[in-house]
Amino acid sequence: MIFAAILAGGIGSRMGGTDTPKQFLTLGDKPVIIHTIEKFVINSRFDKILVLVPQSFINHTINLISEFIKDNNNIVVLKGGQTRNNTIMNAISYIDDNFDIDDDSIIVTHDSVRPFVTHRIIEDNIAFAAKFGACDTVVPASDTIVESVDGELIKNIPLRDNFYQGQTPQSFKINKLAKLISSLNEDEINILTDACKIFVLNGEDVVLVDGEITNIKITYPYDLKLANTILKGIEND
Ligand code: CTP
Repeated sequence: MIFAAILAGGIGSRMGGTDTPKQFLTLGDKPVIIHTIEKFVINSRFDKILVLVPQSFINHTINLISEFIKDNNNIVVLKGGQTRNNTIMNAISYIDDNFDIDDDSIIVTHDSVRPFVTHRIIEDNIAFAAKFGACDTVVPASDTIVESVDGELIKNIPLRDNFYQGQTPQSFKINKLAKLISSLNEDEINILTDACKIFVLNGEDVVLVDGEITNIKITYPYDLKLANTILKGIEND
């Protein structure tokens, strides 16, 4: 079975100045989260699309989905967790409780605030997770990476060719991910904010999927402006 988990449990503190988490802000003619969900709905391979949001936004999200997405039968809205990992764990618990999954079952986890994920990226994630067990979507680093431990002096300038910027989706065999997460203690869960890192630190392979530079994450107010520009560019193509 194949599942999508759209991670929307955050509050968007870096956006500042709004009580509405960034995934619910308007991009073009609809909320960011709706753009993102639509990218998964058009892919008929998902058995269920899980959308995980803060508890107080569950009803709002259900209303938005019925307003904007006609074909919404395989979408379920669930409560997110305190941390991004907790949100992923809530997705896994729901799948465990409601489906009879096997070791080949896959979860494609995606940031709700990356509305420009493409069909090709999602397809590659499904294929690579099925073949290799875990994959991460990345783009080659475009800026030189400078390492500093104290924030004052440069310690190292590594070879840029070896560095990538992580995007999402990140996709996994569900049972393998669940087993690795359950082996973490509370501190590790809080530190290991990136699910792929849990695999890497346990010596498990994580393969790279080519991302796109347009697959941006809306983090700061400027990113929403950029997203509007990207959207207009796509509409004019
Ligand atoms: N996320 C989540 N559950 C959390 C925290 C984050 O599902 N407890 C989701 C966010 O909703 C977002 C994605 O993970 O779609 C990427 O996280 P980030 O950009 O850091 O979002 P926020 O945590 O909301 O932002 P901030 O760090 O500025 O508060």
